[in-house]
Amino acid sequence: MIKNFNDTFTLNNGVKVPGIGYGTWQTPDGDVTRNCVREALLAGYRHIDTASAYGNEASVGAGIRESGVKREDIFVTTKHWVVDRGYEKTIKAVETSLELLGLDYIDLYLIHWPCVARTNPNDWRQINADTWRGFEKMYKEGKIRALGVSNFRKPQLDPLFEDAEIKPAVNQVEFHPGYTQMENVEYCKSLGMVIEAWSPLGSGAVLADPLLCGIAEKYGKSTAQVCVRYVLQHDVLPLPKSTKPERMKSNSEVFDFEISEEDMKLIDSMPETGFTGWLPQDAPADALVGWRPPEEQ
Ligand code: A2P
Repeated sequence: MIKNFNDTFTLNNGVKVPGIGYGTWQTPDGDVTRNCVREALLAGYRHIDTASAYGNEASVGAGIRESGVKREDIFVTTKHWVVDRGYEKTIKAVETSLELLGLDYIDLYLIHWPCVARTNPNDWRQINADTWRGFEKMYKEGKIRALGVSNFRKPQLDPLFEDAEIKPAVNQVEFHPGYTQMENVEYCKSLGMVIEAWSPLGSGAVLADPLLCGIAEKYGKSTAQVCVRYVLQHDVLPLPKSTKPERMKSNSEVFDFEISEEDMKLIDSMPETGFTGWLPQDAPADALVGWRPPEEQ
């Protein structure tokens, strides 16, 4: 397990990723995201996670520039959205993200949601493979430093591993106390992937859980800190999100305590709590097509 804030995980191509990232899902475009990203960088985060579908890449880029932190010291992840599937569209999508972010390269680029058999019974595998070829082209051109996926499970992952020349380095999935999809996580680790946790605090939904609150009290930490530490002790990379600078800071202060094996088991066996209900085969991406931050709806 990493020992310090910004200790790194190492990907299958040797690229190093700061071990706690700052998430920007549902952070509205404009001043809010710009300020949050700047404050997160000033609070010591060096890993920022965004996505084309979040609609806030331009503000993420502005926040990075405003922070004054050097580009090469920051690890930026963005994600490919479902409307950009296929080889040509993927190349354009990367170029658009780079332009919006105002960057020359992306550190990590992820397929946000897999194309699945339920929605595309005849060509889902080919579609994912074509998208991936676009990823590989941009990687080879130096526009992206590492390639990965998000929300993939074995049925989508195995074919992609067969079809890919450059193997996916990361799977970013929902992972928090109350929902760990541990079998998938272990499988991905066996393929040499780093697992990243989106919603490591269960989008806030697990923070009032009595078991977690009791454990937090015992260690003299906040429930959010217990969640972040729990994720790290499973060798998963957390991407906690807060719009408040003091919480950004405290969410990273998780290296002065250790959750005992016994307490880890207790958290592991919590009943399902805070699960979004989003599974690849249910194609939540379909529901998310056209998704925009709340203030734009
Ligand atoms: P806020 O932005 O007001 O701090 P996740 O990282 O799982 O997506 O969870 C994000 C949610 O958890 C947000 O609603 C955020 O609200 C809240 N949150 C983040 N950090 C903390 C914290 N330390 N204490 C309480 N709530 C938090």
